Amino acid sequence: MSGSASRIDLCSVDEVEPGTPIKIEAGDLTLAVYQVDGEIYVTDDACTHGPGSLSEGYLDGHIIECDFHNGAFDIRSGEVVAPPCMIPLKTYKAVTENGRVIIEV
Ligand code: FES
Repeated sequence: MSGSASRIDLCSVDEVEPGTPIKIEAGDLTLAVYQVDGEIYVTDDACTHGPGSLSEGYLDGHIIECDFHNGAFDIRSGEVVAPPCMIPLKTYKAVTENGRVIIEV
């Protein structure tokens, strides 16, 4: 691990309800934060296909479906699981500490 990684405090764990992603803006990043089975996941909020905001999409298990054209991604890997999306979604390593959600970028 290089010393250049920076940690960004995103929100309280309590703000992230299971099944309901939230949108968090942190510096230049606009992120979607998800909770599934007590685990927190963080991805870019912007769909890689177009103007969709994934925090407004539909979360089913670990799959987020964009509400624009119904493309979908696996929030664990960012892998595309449904067209018309082609480009994987960027994901972030999230940790929880003292009730806060933190990512390393
Ligand atoms: S903008 Fe998300 S599927 Fe088209």
